[in-house]
Amino acid sequence: MNRITIAIDGFSSCGKSTLARQLAQHLGYTYIDSGAMYRAVALYVMENGLVGDGQLLKEGLMQVLDGLDIRFQHDPMTDKSATTLNGRNVEQEIRTMAVSNHVTLVSPVPEVRAKLVRLQQQMGREKGVVMDGRDIGTVVFPDAEVKLFMTARPEVRAQRRFHELKMKGATVTLAEVEANIHQRDLDDTTRKADPLTKAADAIVIDNSDITAEEQFVRALDIVLGVLAQVGQE
Ligand code: DC
Repeated sequence: MNRITIAIDGFSSCGKSTLARQLAQHLGYTYIDSGAMYRAVALYVMENGLVGDGQLLKEGLMQVLDGLDIRFQHDPMTDKSATTLNGRNVEQEIRTMAVSNHVTLVSPVPEVRAKLVRLQQQMGREKGVVMDGRDIGTVVFPDAEVKLFMTARPEVRAQRRFHELKMKGATVTLAEVEANIHQRDLDDTTRKADPLTKAADAIVIDNSDITAEEQFVRALDIVLGVLAQVGQE
C-alpha cells in the first residue's frame, strides 16, 4: 500500500501529539514530535550559559548549532521513542515548564529553524510518518497528502495542560500555564520565520468539545479517504 505523509499543525497544548501517536500506531507509521527538537535546543541553551538576562546569547548558540546532535531513539526502559541531545536522553527534562518558558527564545531563530527543518525533512524522506508541530504542512512537508490543523479554545487547552503537568507531579498554577500558553500562541503566530499559519489545504479540527476518541475517528476517516485515493492513482 502507498505510504503517505501526515502533517499535523496547531496551537500549543491542542492534543496534536495524542492524535499523531494514535494515527501512527494505527497505520504502523513513525510518529515524529518536531516540538521536542525545539525543546532540546532550549534545554541546551539553558544548561550551557547561553541565556543572559532572559535573552538568548545568539552568537554562542551559532558557534555550536551545527554540532548539536538531536535525535529520537528507542528507550528500552519505557519501550518508547525518546529525544536525545548529544547522546543523552532528555525526554523528561524537555517537558518541564522551565523549558516551555525558554523555547520561544530559540524557536524564532532562522538558523535554528533551518537546521531542524532539514533534519525533519530527512526523517520523513521515506514517507510513512506522522509529524506534528507548527510549520509541518506549510514549510517542512508542503506536499504532505494529509494536513490537519488543530485548534481548541485557550481555556480548554490550559486546563488540559495543567492537568497533564499535575499528573506528572509538577508544582504549577493554572495561571502560570495560561500565561505560558498565551505567550507561546503570540510568539508562534507573530514570529518572522515560519510563523504558525494554517496551510490553505489543511483541514481544521476544533477539539474543544469532542473527546480524543471522537477526534481520532474524524482524523482517521480523513486519512483513509486520502489513502483510498492515493491507492487508485
Ligand atoms: O509542540 P510543543 O509545545 O512541544 O513545541 C514546543 C515549542 O516549539 C513551541 O512553543 C513552538 C515551537 N515549535 C516550532 O516553532 N515549530 C515546530 N514545528 C514545533 C514546535
